[in-house]
Amino acid sequence: MITLFVLLVMAASVLGNQDFEEVCPFEACWPKNTSIYTDKPAPKIKLLVWRHASDLEVTKVTPNLEHLYVFNCSSDFKIDVLPPMTKLNMINITNCPISELEQHVFENVINLEKLALAGNFIEKLSNETFHKLSNVKYLYLQHNLIKDLPEDIFLMNSKLQVLSLRGNPLKILTLDFPIWTFLTIIKLDVSDCKELTDLRLSIRVSDLYLRNSGVERLAITGSVSEIHHENSKVTFAWINGTYFHRSFVQVLCDMPSLDYLVLWNCTKSSDYSYFEMDENGKKCNFPNLQSLHLMGNKLNYIPRRLPLFGPNLTTLDISHNKLEYDSLELLFDLDTPKEEEGNFPNIRFLAMGHNLLKKLPRMCPLFGPNLTILDLSHNLLESVSMESFDKAQNLESLYLHGNRLTSFDYLYVCDGLKNLKWVVLQNNLFNATFYGNMSKFLDDNKQRLIEMNKRILI
Ligand SMILES: *[C@@H]1O[C@H](CO)[C@@H](O)[C@H](O)[C@H]1NC(C)=O
Ligand SMILES: *[C@@H]1O[C@H](CO)[C@@H](O)[C@H](O)[C@H]1NC(C)=O
Ligand SMILES: *[C@@H]1O[C@H](CO)[C@@H](O)[C@H](O)[C@H]1NC(C)=O
Ligand SMILES: *[C@@H]1O[C@H](CO)[C@@H](O)[C@H](O)[C@H]1NC(C)=O
Ligand SMILES: *[C@@H]1O[C@H](CO)[C@@H](O)[C@H](O)[C@H]1NC(C)=O
Ligand SMILES: *[C@@H]1O[C@H](CO)[C@@H](O)[C@H](O)[C@H]1NC(C)=O
Ligand SMILES: *[C@@H]1O[C@H](CO)[C@@H](O)[C@H](O)[C@H]1NC(C)=O
Ligand SMILES: *[C@@H]1O[C@H](CO)[C@@H](O)[C@H](O)[C@H]1NC(C)=O
Ligand SMILES: *[C@@H]1O[C@H](CO)[C@@H](O)[C@H](O)[C@H]1NC(C)=O
Ligand SMILES: *[C@@H]1O[C@H](CO)[C@@H](O)[C@H](O)[C@H]1NC(C)=O
Repeated sequence: MITLFVLLVMAASVLGNQDFEEVCPFEACWPKNTSIYTDKPAPKIKLLVWRHASDLEVTKVTPNLEHLYVFNCSSDFKIDVLPPMTKLNMINITNCPISELEQHVFENVINLEKLALAGNFIEKLSNETFHKLSNVKYLYLQHNLIKDLPEDIFLMNSKLQVLSLRGNPLKILTLDFPIWTFLTIIKLDVSDCKELTDLRLSIRVSDLYLRNSGVERLAITGSVSEIHHENSKVTFAWINGTYFHRSFVQVLCDMPSLDYLVLWNCTKSSDYSYFEMDENGKKCNFPNLQSLHLMGNKLNYIPRRLPLFGPNLTTLDISHNKLEYDSLELLFDLDTPKEEEGNFPNIRFLAMGHNLLKKLPRMCPLFGPNLTILDLSHNLLESVSMESFDKAQNLESLYLHGNRLTSFDYLYVCDGLKNLKWVVLQNNLFNATFYGNMSKFLDDNKQRLIEMNKRILI
């Protein structure tokens, strides 16, 4: 008992003998030095601005603090678990030597809305550092030394609106918010993360800032309205199950470096078409795009001069949409001078399966001289005009299964398309006689159509 008393007295004396209230009698306080004070509470203080601090012990006597600013700390600065301060709304600690933020640091300041920790040499964070901050809206972690973030570090921050990780040496960043925070929409800034090559987001982002980042591969599931990315290096983008607040073209406009783009099961705001260009006339071009996948987007038309159809496009997958005969007609307009036509001379792989095509246009610009694989399966095709393939002399594989064909011009096919090796025709409506004749003919041509022969099944 006596020992305890002695210890308490000693502890009190360690805190010094001046009341903090004497130094700071008003609501706002800019203490000049880090002298130590008694533990007498200073409940009046709401704002504390602290330069050259070596610790934050003084917050033990400021229970009603609302704003805490700590700048340019001394080199022996230590940050311990902050005491309960239920009114604390904002913390700004800048330019202080903090290398690690352990699990409990912020667990008592649960009403914090703004936490700014820029430029502090932070390398390590615990997966639970921010767990008690369920009210935090702004989290600034820019210009630290964060190489990777623990999994689920933002699990509980469902009110987050702004997250800045700018200028950290992150290499791969995966932000995967759980379903229940799916209503959380954030601005995410990873600008100047020069080493960041791989960014995978399963969240809703309003604005994604990638300026001067090294991002080459981008995966998004969730939603996105704007990507800000001058000097983009993104070559590969995988975007699935994502809601676009504007048109595909507008949102992706800042990434002309793309060569492989997947937009799968995406939806968009009803105010915009999928392909609308920027209203302010900003030119969007994707000259390097080689592989474009637009599956499952409920597309019922494709504009002719879509900037996504660059000169290098060789693979186009527009399957699982609602394309009809008329949608393809729009691609090709005989009144347009040849050089301005949407045409696709370099397309090699074209997938149009699972659409609503009843017939093919007589001359379809998509069926060009380099086309080698064409998938038209699972449409409503009742007939296939062989004229459509006049320009597609290099066709090697033709998939027509799952349509409504009653007839097929196999004579023309064998005769006209010299390179054809593979035709798939099962699940159509051929009658037995016709099918018998077709099989026999193809059998007799087995040398060239040997694989086709194997695959013809009704
Ligand atoms: C630190 O502050 C205390 C209290 O205001 C004061 O007594 C002391 O002289 C100051 N020390 C320096 C080095 O400024
Ligand atoms: C912190 O120090 C830097 C230089 O070291 C100075 O430019 C800056 O103004 C200081 N900030 C504050 C808030 O004192
Ligand atoms: C935090 O303080 C620094 C230094 O004064 C300032 O530059 C920065 O804007 C502040 N951050 C926020 C989010 O207010
Ligand atoms: C944080 O990490 C620790 C140790 O790896 C683990 O036991 C704990 O469950 C994690 N917490 C969460 C919320 O993932
Ligand atoms: C979307 O892609 C991600 C990988 O980027 C994958 O984990 C996820 O399962 C996909 N979503 C669906 C609905 O398939
Ligand atoms: C797209 O949606 C379909 C049907 O709901 C689903 O089977 C498929 O896995 C989805 N794909 C992706 C990449 O999300
Ligand atoms: C794209 O095409 C242009 C010319 O049409 C060419 O100069 C450029 O090298 C191509 N880019 C790629 C990645 O193939
Ligand atoms: C397309 O075909 C033309 C000639 O038919 C050829 O010059 C060109 O290189 C081909 N493009 C690709 C991408 O193979
Ligand atoms: C079978 O189909 C072919 C091609 O569509 C057609 O010409 C022929 O009349 C049909 N035969 C019978 C018996 O329906
Ligand atoms: C099948 O071939 C025979 C002769 O080879 C021809 O008379 C008949 O009209 C053909 N039937 C169909 C349906 O093509």
